[in-house]
Amino acid sequence: MKVALASDHGGVNLRKEIAQLLKEMGIEYEDFGCDCETSVDYPDYALPVAKKVASGEFDRGILICGTGIGMSIAANKVKGIRCALVHDTFSAKATRAHNDSNILAMGERVIGPGLARDIAQIWLTGEFEGGRHAGRVGKIGEYEDSTSN
Ligand code: RB5
Repeated sequence: MKVALASDHGGVNLRKEIAQLLKEMGIEYEDFGCDCETSVDYPDYALPVAKKVASGEFDRGILICGTGIGMSIAANKVKGIRCALVHDTFSAKATRAHNDSNILAMGERVIGPGLARDIAQIWLTGEFEGGRHAGRVGKIGEYEDSTSN
């Protein structure tokens, strides 16, 4: 698995924690920044990562900002992206099993590093259940295909 990782200025510290976790898990990843303390715009980080996942260049993405909300809204504008904003371990497992989410968004100002690491680990190892869930995810793809975006 190859993971694309990015944050805005509000998520730099948590992004470093997650990079460390990916190393510990032996998961290949690329860190797309930001390397900044000054304010940047989260879509400038979310959209490139989302496009890399949608194109298949990367299998998964992890996006971090202050709340995770901006990153998730932006990433979900890219066709083929199912970005889940997750701040608890139950949802981390469920969104892989039920939604086949391909990007995880978290907020550094919402949860601590210990919980964020647990969430990322569960999400990275969770399997999609398929079955009835595949039909539901398929309907999202059908909708995307029916629009001009
Ligand atoms: C930046 O201040 C903050 O708005 C951003 O990190 C994120 O929380 C947006 O959703």
